[in-house]
Amino acid sequence: MSERDVRVYEVGPRDGLQNEAIPIPTDAKLQFIDLLTRAGLREIEATSFVSPKAVPQLADADELMARLERRPGVRYPVLVPNARGLDRAEAAGADALCVFTAASEPFARANINMSIAESISAFRPVIDRAVERGWWIRGYVSTAFGCPYQGEVGEAAVVAVAQQLRELGIEELSIGDTIGVAGPSDVRRVVRALDAAGFAPDRLAMHFHDTRGTALANVATALELGVRCFDASTGGTGGCPYAPGAAGNLATEDLVYLLDREGLSHGVDLDALLVAARHVSETLGRPLGTKVGQAGGWRLP
Ligand code: HMG
Ligand code: MG
Repeated sequence: MSERDVRVYEVGPRDGLQNEAIPIPTDAKLQFIDLLTRAGLREIEATSFVSPKAVPQLADADELMARLERRPGVRYPVLVPNARGLDRAEAAGADALCVFTAASEPFARANINMSIAESISAFRPVIDRAVERGWWIRGYVSTAFGCPYQGEVGEAAVVAVAQQLRELGIEELSIGDTIGVAGPSDVRRVVRALDAAGFAPDRLAMHFHDTRGTALANVATALELGVRCFDASTGGTGGCPYAPGAAGNLATEDLVYLLDREGLSHGVDLDALLVAARHVSETLGRPLGTKVGQAGGWRLP
C-alpha cells in the first residue's frame, strides 16, 4: 500500500444494522452486502456471532454467512465474543473475525458482561484457534474517547488494552469512538500515545461515530497523523445497544467523498455506493440522512 492508499472498512451490515428495532430480512442484508461489493468495498463486516438475546437483529448470522456469496478478494469479518461464537462462525464458513473489548470497565461490563481482563482471557482460546486456522483477526477497543457510563477516557487506558490485545497476537486494532464524542485534539492525543507505545498510525484503524458531527474532522486529523484505515457504515446507520446515544457511524459515502477530494485511492465508486445507501434507506423505511446521500457527489455537468 502506498501512503496515498486508504482502506475503507465497511461496518454497515453489522454495526449499522445491529441496533435497528424492526426485523430486517436476511435477504435484504444479503442484497446490501452484494451492493457494497459491487461498489468496490473489499472489507465488509457481515454480522456478529454474539448472543441472540444481546443483539436480536443479528440472530440470523448463521444463515446469513452460510448463504453469503463470497466474492474473490473480499474479506467478510464477523464479530465473535467467545468460543461459542467461534464455533458458530466456523460452521458457517467464516474466515475473518473481530473480538471486541473496551477502554472503560463499565462499558465492557454492559456490552459483553465481562471486565476488560476477563474479556482478554475469554479471547485467548478464540484467537489461538483462529490463528491455527489462518484467519484474519482484528481487535476493537471501544469507548477509546469517552464512555456513556464513566465519562472521559484517558489515552493510557486505550494503550493498556491495545497492548493486551497485541499480546494475544492481534495485528489490527480498531480504535472506537463508540458514542461519538471525540474531536481532533482527542484523536491527536490517542493516536500519538498509541504511536509512542509501538502502534504505528498506518497499522491502526479508526472507528468514528458521527453522533455529534465530528467524525469527518476526526478522519482528516487521523489522515494527517498517518492513519490509513477507516471504518464506516453506508447510509450512516448504526449504534450499539449497550451505548446509549451512540447514533450513527460515520457514513461511508461521506468518507469516500472526502477521500476523493483529497486525491486518496480507496477503490470505492461513489455512485455505486449511493445505490447501496438507498437500499438501506428503503429497507429501513426512512429517508437517507447522510450529507453526501442527500447532495450526491459533485461533478461539473
Ligand atoms: P452472558 O450473558 O454473560 O454470557 O453474555 P453467557 O455465557 O451466560 O450466555 C448467555 C446466553 O447467551 C446463554 O444462553 C448462552 O448460551 C448464549 P441461555 O443459556 O441463556 O439460553 N450465548 C450465545 N449464543 C449464541 N452465540 C454466542 C453466545 N454466547 C453466549 N456467541 C456475551 C456474554 C458476550 C455472550 C453477550 O454479552 C453478548 O453476546 N454480547 C454482545 C454484545 C454486542 O454484540 N454488542 C455490539 C457489538 S460491540 C460494538 O458495537 C462496538 C464496536 O462497533 C466498536 C465501537 O463502536 O466502539 C465494535
Ligand atoms: Mg461501532
